[in-house]
Amino acid sequence: MDPAYANGETRRADAVLRDVAGGGNGRDRGLPGDAQMKASEDKPRRNRAVFRLLRLPLGVIAAMAILGVVLVYLAAPLNIAARIGPYPGVAWVLHTYMKQWARNWSYWVEKPDYVDLSNPALVRLGAGYYETGCAACHGAPGRERNPLVRLMEPAPPSLASEEVANFSDKELYWIVWNGVRYTAMPGWTGDNRQDEVWAIVAFMREYGAIAPRDYVRLAYGEVQPKGLGGGGAMSFGGLDDRLDKTVQDCARCHGRDGMGRDGTAPKLAGQTHEYLAATLDGYASGKRASGIMQPIAAPLSGDEVERLAAHYADLPSRAVASEAQAPARAAADVPDGALVALGQRIAAEGDPDRFVPPCGACHEGSGAVRPRAEYPRIAGQDSRFIEAWLRLYRDGPAGGTDFAEVMHVSAQGLTDRQIKALAAWYSSRPYDAQAGAVEQARSGDAAAAPPY
Ligand code: HEC
Ligand code: HEC
Ligand code: HEC
Repeated sequence: MDPAYANGETRRADAVLRDVAGGGNGRDRGLPGDAQMKASEDKPRRNRAVFRLLRLPLGVIAAMAILGVVLVYLAAPLNIAARIGPYPGVAWVLHTYMKQWARNWSYWVEKPDYVDLSNPALVRLGAGYYETGCAACHGAPGRERNPLVRLMEPAPPSLASEEVANFSDKELYWIVWNGVRYTAMPGWTGDNRQDEVWAIVAFMREYGAIAPRDYVRLAYGEVQPKGLGGGGAMSFGGLDDRLDKTVQDCARCHGRDGMGRDGTAPKLAGQTHEYLAATLDGYASGKRASGIMQPIAAPLSGDEVERLAAHYADLPSRAVASEAQAPARAAADVPDGALVALGQRIAAEGDPDRFVPPCGACHEGSGAVRPRAEYPRIAGQDSRFIEAWLRLYRDGPAGGTDFAEVMHVSAQGLTDRQIKALAAWYSSRPYDAQAGAVEQARSGDAAAAPPY
């Protein structure tokens, strides 16, 4: 750089500073360079100088502001007592904002096509869950909200209101899946289990039309407690009091016979002790994600899990009996025979091009090869349940027992259509198709161990 110019720069800067500080005499104003350029070059420098001057007063103001906030915080002049209710208008603003948030953010929500909100089994499951997970705050058909709950701020509204009826399916889904921050409304507990929330939506859609008596029937099935207008608890012979109570709760969704109340929940009767116990442990620890089963399984003691597993594993005979009323349908009898036939083929042969193994090899065994006791029975389960889990194994981690990884690998290559086909095939099979096979495997020789 030209030293003369550099020199001019410093001198000019000094002059500006002096001017701003009021000490300049303007002597240096006529320095080299034309007037226009000088003006534009001087501007940033002048700003910097102004800032340096104001630094002190600005700092004092900021410090006083912070001190003020701290003092207000310590004095706590705003009364936030729930008892006196909200400041006028605040509840309205928050609630209106919540509705707008649900409307905007639920725009992208998509209901999976295998979920049919008018499916009575889904409404029953929603009611069953609602009774344990929501009714304590929101009340239920025929049951008012507890006065204690009404003191929450904001208070949980009754879901019978016109306003709830005006929410779209997607908005209800969004609210239940996410919960509402800074209110008591919790989010859904099962990671990755968005699919489960649709059962609650199915129930809430019907809410206004459900009579109190019907609600109890939906949520409790055959085991209706006396206090709620039912005939009183039914005892399961042979179980001690405490387990008896627990099994009555399970029966609300899984049925007294462990056959799942017609698609409300998966069938448990005759599943192996090993699988049932490991899966209950998985729910309790969160290793198998489910917003419905985790809160139910988490409080069970190790001893209870063992005894519940033994109870359901011992129920195969009833399973066979109730399956007799709904005999397996041949591929030709069901609406989409081609789909069922495709499912049957993959179950038997897999799809080598897509690295899908034959499902039967693990789930049914064949000939001398029998299923391991840790592998669940899937034939005869409801198609919605089978499809949901095949998608979960394929698309996202939803966990399971220590053996869940083999299922994640097996499902990786499945297309949507193949998943539908497998759900159609397996749900059309009798539930007892595998009965006995596992028993043989347990007592059988080591050579008959399955290949996986
Ligand atoms: C611990 C109490 C609590 C539980 C449990 C609870 N909620 Fe809520 N819920 C609330 C509160 C409080 C609000 C009000 C939030 C607001 O106004 O922003 C609310 C709001 C809602 C709304 C919006 C209603 C409206 O009119 O704005 C729906 C729908 C809802 N809850 C459904 C459910 C369902 C379904 C469950 C069970 C899965 C559930 N809630 C569990 C407390 C609860
Ligand atoms: C509110 C309804 C409801 C209640 C009550 C309930 N369950 Fe479940 N249960 C379900 C649903 C829904 C599933 C499927 C969850 C999933 O997708 O993993 C399930 C799954 C299970 C499974 C895994 C089945 C399989 O094939 O993978 C077991 C085991 C189980 N429940 C046992 C119990 C026991 C024991 C109780 C009582 C302590 C109980 N459940 C109470 C709804 C319920
Ligand atoms: C290598 C053995 C193996 C193969 C092959 C296999 N599975 Fe599985 N499957 C399992 C195991 C083990 C589980 C239990 C996983 C867990 O703990 O969550 C399971 C679980 C399932 C479940 C969930 C059942 C329930 O009650 O929760 C379904 C549905 C299922 N498999 C369907 C299939 C289909 C359809 C195929 C063929 C594409 C298949 N499986 C291939 C081993 C296998």
